[in-house]
Amino acid sequence: MAALAVAALFSASACSADETAAASKDVEVFTWWADGGEKAGLDGLVAQFGTSCADYKFVNGAVAGGAGTNAKAVLASRLQTNDPPSTFQAHAGAELSDYINAGQVEDISAEYATWGLTSAFPKGLIDNITVDGKIYSVPANIHRANVLWSNKTVTAKAGITKDADTLDGFIADLDKLKAGGVAAPLALGKDWTQVMLLEAVLISDLGADKFTGLWNGSTDWKGADVTASIEKFKKLLTYTNKDRDTLDWTDAEKSIMEGKAAYQLMGDWEAADLDAKGFKDYGYSVFPGNGSTFQWLADAFVLPKGAKNVDGTKCWLKTVGSAEGQKAFNSKKGSIPARTDVSSDGFPAYQQAAMADWKSAKQVPSCAHGAACSQGFQGAIVSAAGKFSSDGNVAALQAALAAVAAQFAGKK
Ligand code: BGC
Repeated sequence: MAALAVAALFSASACSADETAAASKDVEVFTWWADGGEKAGLDGLVAQFGTSCADYKFVNGAVAGGAGTNAKAVLASRLQTNDPPSTFQAHAGAELSDYINAGQVEDISAEYATWGLTSAFPKGLIDNITVDGKIYSVPANIHRANVLWSNKTVTAKAGITKDADTLDGFIADLDKLKAGGVAAPLALGKDWTQVMLLEAVLISDLGADKFTGLWNGSTDWKGADVTASIEKFKKLLTYTNKDRDTLDWTDAEKSIMEGKAAYQLMGDWEAADLDAKGFKDYGYSVFPGNGSTFQWLADAFVLPKGAKNVDGTKCWLKTVGSAEGQKAFNSKKGSIPARTDVSSDGFPAYQQAAMADWKSAKQVPSCAHGAACSQGFQGAIVSAAGKFSSDGNVAALQAALAAVAAQFAGKK
């Protein structure tokens, strides 16, 4: 018995020594990029990591669910119990400030200098991710939120030859589609996807500057122009599928692919996802009435406090920030490099157009994807929009939005 127990003890400790050695090579990367175009983008980055950081092993910590709705909840509880992944995905801007203010991520300003990142990213983006002179994240990309995707066969069948560039023109097209038998021509999903649609309508009605002012306190949420936008948003909901409150963005996208709907407002991860799923018959344009406004958001990676394998994580972050890493990732993710020195050669046509637009367009931040508002602010807006999806009460939604904005004023 005693001999057996000793043998068991030895084999247990030998095994755990091996495990410890293997674990020290592991870099657990926590994202919500689990399928389709998102997974394809992640795979591109992982391939580059394999080349640049051959000493380390990528461990996939992805938790599925659009915009990180599930992932962020899992992450919050892991951070609370001091069990951080080696690195996690977070949105540049206000959402990152949440983690910074909570002391959950490390200052990596020194690495910025060593890796030559300070001059590689545009100044506006660097300003956006700098808090009290320090930088805590490496942006992987720039996504555009305000893009209208379409099924070209469905729109052509309804006699639509050109994408609308005003909201009224868009509504006229949706009417044509309905008259032609497309019952729910505008595909829509749940919570955050509805907030994206509301934001796009607000950009059309208020214009870029007033829209940005909604997030910094200079535009009044109680204004008559906001009421008018919510009325238009309500009108647009009448063209959407009734089961919207149960669908993720990929479910709504499916109805575009199947020809059951004509349009979907979605970020440009949809380009990569449609490509990954082999659907070629799609068109894209800026959301009607948004003109040359580019509503942006950026995915970034951090070094969490207490991360296991700090050196491996730094190698991941360096890869994310490198020109090679940004090319490998963005050419498959639908987004464009955050770095300014990556050539558009070899990128799909959509991203080439987005790269040109990014340089010339007026930039506004996205709240649904954390650039403009904190997680608390965003959560409150999502729940107000969810209520509106069932009761359609314009005054109640506007009052709720104004109350949320007042609650978060100055805190973002
Ligand atoms: C992320 C994108 C992702 C999208 C849909 C956004 O919040 O920034 O990277 O593709 O959500 O899941």
